[in-house]
Amino acid sequence: MYPLNRNRRLRSKQSLRNLIKETRISPHDFIVPLFIIEGSNLKEEIPSMPNYYRYSLDVVKKEVKELWNIGVQAVLLFVKVEDHLKDNFGNEAVNKNGLMQRAIKDIKSSVPEMTIMTDVALDPYSTYGHDGIVKDNKILNDPTNLVLSDMALSHAEAGADVVAPSDMMDGRVLSIRKALENNGFHDTGIMSYAVKYASSFYGPFRDALDSKPGFGDKKTYQMDFHNRSEAILEAKSDIEEGSDIIMVKPGLSYLDILRDLKNQVHCPLAIYQVSGEYSMLKAAAKQGWLDHDKVMMEQLVSMKRAGADIIASYFAKDAIKLLS
Ligand code: PBG
Repeated sequence: MYPLNRNRRLRSKQSLRNLIKETRISPHDFIVPLFIIEGSNLKEEIPSMPNYYRYSLDVVKKEVKELWNIGVQAVLLFVKVEDHLKDNFGNEAVNKNGLMQRAIKDIKSSVPEMTIMTDVALDPYSTYGHDGIVKDNKILNDPTNLVLSDMALSHAEAGADVVAPSDMMDGRVLSIRKALENNGFHDTGIMSYAVKYASSFYGPFRDALDSKPGFGDKKTYQMDFHNRSEAILEAKSDIEEGSDIIMVKPGLSYLDILRDLKNQVHCPLAIYQVSGEYSMLKAAAKQGWLDHDKVMMEQLVSMKRAGADIIASYFAKDAIKLLS
């Protein structure tokens, strides 16, 4: 009872505050998303994501080495697919010699200890910019799962440690898991974007990969952001189907969901601080309206505090530099 209990007492000096700190972040908490393009010696800034780049294979290898040297232990690969390789069926997605498959091999051979995670979804490969096969303006579920399984398998064959289906088709985790098991890839992990909302925060990412949906939106497969219980349903079904890690996406606006999951499911949880979240802070900081580094750290810590075991973030490198 006041004044015997004064909550300010333990806040009185930094060393004491450090002692009672409940949440700490470290370089090992992060997954760094990487955008890869064809070509050589290329490092292109993404206009809507200041200070974030698309790399050609030769340059991305150097970037991954640098990341490893500062303590990053996981990267998540995305490729920008050339227009002439796009179709409605993801044929290029399963090409054993495709950009993704080559990227996995190259990165694996230059930094073998790095955990390589790969995005599994059709949108960068789709003429329609949708995550699945399109017929009569509908996104087909089961035929898409067949392609996604082949795609995941080709990533595993190239050396991916973890495949990350981000498409939100029903049953795709089971289908991918079976394909991996049947082909001897018992140790390939699945990080399912089980809880992925139809969000307007993905805009800059779609610029980065030139993967905007050509018609409609993604609301028939990604979740409605008015919903909360549905997140538990999605996570539980993906865990039953064989997912090892569950991802919540986007980040900051969905911390309530993350905490619900933390309380109800018992596998590692990842959160994806998405492109729009990155760009908002970059823009505000450029105006001088927010302190970039302080707001960045506050946001990352709040994700971990809410229950994230893993954070996928475009800020990872900046944050790690500050931590050390
Ligand atoms: C595609 C995919 C998206 C993101 C990751 N994988 C975009 C989308 O679903 O339209 C978004 C990431 C970001 O905004 O940073 N399957």
